[in-house]
Amino acid sequence: MSLKKKDSWGSTIGVILAVTGSAVGLGNFLRFPGLAAKYDGGAFLIPYFLALLFLGLPIAWSEWAMGRMGGQHGFNSCPGIFRSLWKNRLAPYFGVLGLIVPVIIYMYYLWIESWCLGYAWKFLTGQMNLGTEPASYSTHFSTFVGITADGSFFAHGFSLPVLCLLACVVINFFFIYRGLSGGIERVCLWGMPLLILCALLVLARVLTLGTPDPAHPERNVLAGLAYMWDIRGGFTGLLHSLQNAEMWMAAASQIFFSLSVGFGVIINYSSYLKKRDDIALSSTTAAAGNEFCEVSLGGLITIPAAFIFLGVAGTTGGTFGLGFQTLPLVFAHMPAGQLFGFLWFFLLFIAALTSSLSMLQPAIAFMEEGLDLDRRGSVTLIGFITLMGTGLVIWFTQDLAALDAMDFWIGSFSIFLLATIQTLIYGWVLGPRRGREELERGALLPIPRMFDFVIRYISPVYLLSVFGLWIHQKGAESLTAIQTNPSVRITLLFIISVIFSSFY
Ligand code: ALA
Repeated sequence: MSLKKKDSWGSTIGVILAVTGSAVGLGNFLRFPGLAAKYDGGAFLIPYFLALLFLGLPIAWSEWAMGRMGGQHGFNSCPGIFRSLWKNRLAPYFGVLGLIVPVIIYMYYLWIESWCLGYAWKFLTGQMNLGTEPASYSTHFSTFVGITADGSFFAHGFSLPVLCLLACVVINFFFIYRGLSGGIERVCLWGMPLLILCALLVLARVLTLGTPDPAHPERNVLAGLAYMWDIRGGFTGLLHSLQNAEMWMAAASQIFFSLSVGFGVIINYSSYLKKRDDIALSSTTAAAGNEFCEVSLGGLITIPAAFIFLGVAGTTGGTFGLGFQTLPLVFAHMPAGQLFGFLWFFLLFIAALTSSLSMLQPAIAFMEEGLDLDRRGSVTLIGFITLMGTGLVIWFTQDLAALDAMDFWIGSFSIFLLATIQTLIYGWVLGPRRGREELERGALLPIPRMFDFVIRYISPVYLLSVFGLWIHQKGAESLTAIQTNPSVRITLLFIISVIFSSFY
């Protein structure tokens, strides 16, 4: 591997916004509210904030520290960084996960990003006036993504969904090719404020809806907020909810997905920092920015809006149902719904774009280091690899089989695995003392002493317990999917080949 440094950040605010941009995405505005609604509103926030304190924030700090340290040794890719911190010949192989996870998530995330673009376009041009029948919106979504049969995404040639996907490929590669400061940082510098502005406008609309339907006085703003945030069933209800192991797993995986922790992105981004740049305040600010968007914006908009117009039934659609079937229906009921529908899907598109832009940089850094390619070569190569993966996702669209398989094995399973490996390398190989020296150099914020204990003992035990529970609950189901569904098998074979070619 060559030791030359390839790229760098333009400013501190730029790197903070880039990390926040990577974190703030569809997870904040769709996945989080969907999970909170599913797992009893306020009760979900307890495992959620515990996961933030004992997993998300400590692991984010450790990723920032290990990344900047690796960068000082001349490495920007996760395999290189692991090798520089852990003198073991297996270290780079563990680091390969830090490339695979973001690249494969990119393959399906890009497609969902294109749905947001398509829906924003349709709202802007008045093509989403489908009336107030819920069935029209489910049919629209099924046709848009081709959910009924494999290959049906292409049934209408160069239709709007296909064009939106192509547009997203071009936009992403244009900015990725321009590099860190000229591309990713610049998009996040204007994209993040724009996204927050759109979210605040939609939030103001939702919070001033009052009781829009006099026939349903119980569906009002306060009841919508209570549905999202209250602990249902009082103390007994809370105790009952907290016994649900699945909720603890969902909360931990939401924290990882949302903060982009265990993704291989933060460790790569921070490797471009200088030796004395602050990482303590920057990492905490990025995490706080993500939590603001997730809890205060996503949490106040999605479920309350669905509840106000559709009651409890409107809140149960899961991530995609809520985002692409229920919310368009909600905007059909809402005064000035066309405008707010556009703002909402446009903000989702920007949020998704700032996240997807971050997902290929780790692999590009690896190709630059490991294969000695220049940016043009590495962007072209990663372009071919991701095109094949996205091709699989948009071909095997029946019941979103390929997307679900990638999301399960990479977007959940592998994130846990990578987070565990990183925690062990930081807590047990590097050690909290050396780690703290790194974190404190140039720090503009003191990191609590307790962090050293948490990252060495609590985070690994917490992670392994949740991981064990998760395999216990989901393992059998996913093995059945492999046995019964050929699209899932083909997708897994593809993932395995990508992993092996990275080893090579
Ligand atoms: N962190 C990104 C999201 O929440 C991937 O969507």
